[in-house]
Amino acid sequence: MAAVAPNVQPILPPAWLGVLGGGQLGRFFVIAARNMGYRVAVLDPHRDSPAGALAERHLAAEYEDRAALDELARLCQAVTTEFENVPAASLAHLAARTRVAPSAQCVAVAQDRIAEKAALLAHGFPVAPYAPITGEQDFGRLREFPAILKTARLGYDGKGQVDVARAADLAGAWQALGRVPCVLERRLALERELSVIVARGPDGESRAFAVAENRHRHGILDVSIVPARIDAALTERAREMARRLVGALGYVGVLGVEFFVVAGELYVNEIAPRPHNSGHYTLDACVTSQYAQQVRALCGLPLGDERLLSPATMVNVLGDAWRGGEPPPWQAVLAEPRAKLYLYGKAEARPGRKMAHFTVLDASPERALSVALELRARLGIGEA
Ligand SMILES: Nc1ncnc2c1ncn2[C@@H]1O[C@H](COP(=O)(O)OP(=O)(O)OP(=O)(O)O)[C@@H](O)[C@H]1O
Ligand SMILES: [Mg+2]
Repeated sequence: MAAVAPNVQPILPPAWLGVLGGGQLGRFFVIAARNMGYRVAVLDPHRDSPAGALAERHLAAEYEDRAALDELARLCQAVTTEFENVPAASLAHLAARTRVAPSAQCVAVAQDRIAEKAALLAHGFPVAPYAPITGEQDFGRLREFPAILKTARLGYDGKGQVDVARAADLAGAWQALGRVPCVLERRLALERELSVIVARGPDGESRAFAVAENRHRHGILDVSIVPARIDAALTERAREMARRLVGALGYVGVLGVEFFVVAGELYVNEIAPRPHNSGHYTLDACVTSQYAQQVRALCGLPLGDERLLSPATMVNVLGDAWRGGEPPPWQAVLAEPRAKLYLYGKAEARPGRKMAHFTVLDASPERALSVALELRARLGIGEA
């Protein structure tokens, strides 16, 4: 068992922990922390939030609200985030008053694609050919097309992205994104998309979960298949790269690393400074979930065993599955003994909004996938 660094005292239950952001990732953090006997406070501006509803305290305030941040710091022995667009200045403000992980600096890197790609390159990680675009003088810097123009900040679920088929389309694309700082990235011929959830403790111990194979629809994660159907060497390379990455960044906490596979090679697409949608499977299929691991890393406890106990497939359920305000027929999933359903408690179902997910466990990833796709069809969610 790895020792905790002498300068980092482990935080034990029933201490208070704080989380910035009240979405479903925060909700599972709250559940994991409360299961372990911690008390949790959520800071999120929305009165109804999936995480706030299950926490002991919900501070309904903006992420920049100094009084609310001070209250959180007074109450909590450590604070983490589930929302990557929390202002880094708020994390820095908290860090002057209580333990914060991941750090403001690491979150700042992950929330800006220009800084993120520069950091990845500086540490020798492969990324798609790209150029930062901050003005017209940058237009000639990437010569490889087709490409994708992505806003440097505040993009998610494929929002803030425009296809750029040829150089002549760039000016129009940049205009369409509001002429904000962007990254122009070569569109790669993806064989597969993978992700690895990795955790690193304050003592430098790191552990990477099994590799997930991800399918997207309309830029939003649709299905994660675990373990990814790739050979053992590529699996080990992806997990090793994820561990090397958290080490290089000096990262403490849970990080989601998205990879592209192109011609058998790995490219890092992006990193998320928090648990990741594609890691929901760890709730059911691993000794330790990514959320319990987040609690452990934050509190300076030894990390838990990340071992995969069963192949699994996770399906995201978006608001599109609600017809005329009616929820999809959940009994289709609930009737399947191999499936586990999670609803996030969001009142309003909007197209594209992540409302729920379910995970199917079976003897092989193919079997789990085929059962999952059948259940998805029974919920009335069509193929892409
Ligand atoms: N360079 C690329 N070449 C080919 N496909 C790409 C490229 N960049 C992005 N994509 C596709 O678009 C999807 C979304 O891109 P990206 O992960 O950059 O955006 P995002 O909005 O931050 O998504 P999220 O936050 O949901 O992960 C990718 O998962 C991939 O399917
Ligand atoms: Mg992504």
